[in-house]
Amino acid sequence: MPSTSSTFTKVLNNSAFCTLAADLQSTLRPFRAAGEKVVFVPTMGAFHAGHQSLINAARGISSQVWVSIFVNPTQFNKPSDLAAYPRQLDADCRLAAEAGAAGVFAPNFQEVYPGLQANTVPEVDYGLLTSALEGQQRPGHFNGVVQVVRRLFELVDPDVAMFGEKDYQQFAVVSELVRREKLSVEIVGVPTVRAADGLALSSRNVRLSEDARRSALRLSEEIKAVACAPNPNLAASQAFVRLSADPLIAPEYLSVVAADTFENWTPELSTAARVLVAAQVGGVRLIDNIAVRPA
Ligand code: PAJ
Repeated sequence: MPSTSSTFTKVLNNSAFCTLAADLQSTLRPFRAAGEKVVFVPTMGAFHAGHQSLINAARGISSQVWVSIFVNPTQFNKPSDLAAYPRQLDADCRLAAEAGAAGVFAPNFQEVYPGLQANTVPEVDYGLLTSALEGQQRPGHFNGVVQVVRRLFELVDPDVAMFGEKDYQQFAVVSELVRREKLSVEIVGVPTVRAADGLALSSRNVRLSEDARRSALRLSEEIKAVACAPNPNLAASQAFVRLSADPLIAPEYLSVVAADTFENWTPELSTAARVLVAAQVGGVRLIDNIAVRPA
């Protein structure tokens, strides 16, 4: 099982587990030689059905689906958030295997950041993609995301990498990283998985009290309403006010942006629009987003 000292072990369904990139690469060599694509699903663990749907979608591309689990300290702008992040490696390995992953790559800190690399987090400026919305609310967050994703791509060397639309801005930032640095990996976005009532699945949902869980549902309801409104910008500001009136919700933003550039969307823009929301709900920070479909 993953908790043994061995760096390479077989777990459920013959799915593999390794902590060293060298082991991962030697496992992958025969598959690459046979022309098989390596599909990568980077994660921080604490799996739910959202992560499993990334693995499922990846299985549609190749049998060589590798999931990384690494809780990246450089992307947390609050030490308390990093400390509270759920860690459940054994359960995650089982869930990844059940979803059909060929294996889990769980590098330790030294493998990802040898030497003093983590002490310097290079500044990333992709204009509004890194400075708007999450960029503004979580200073430095995308610096850490870009740093770790670039490094994980180096270690795994995938042909394709899957990212959830749940973190839509992250998906846009990683796509821009690949474009700017001409990395030879194809980025594929996977639609958000929701609970039956519409709440976007998140590793943080377990921290919601019963009341906060009820209030949290209002985020997805409000962005759906905005997405269908004849005037999405007006509807967004009205929705923000309604959310603010809920004693359990402290909204940070609820905005309609151009889906490709993240500039404020206006009807004159011919590009697709996206409505995104972030809010503290009963002390838990949640985000959600949806494509705008004009009525
Ligand atoms: P993490 O939060 O573990 O998410 C891993 C992947 O799962 C991301 O691509 C995220 O968008 C996707 N995901 C999360 N909830 C989802 C849902 N409800 N439906 C569909 N996909 C969902 O995102 C990260 O980790 C990190 O920032 C990472 C990219 C691994 C870099 O550290």
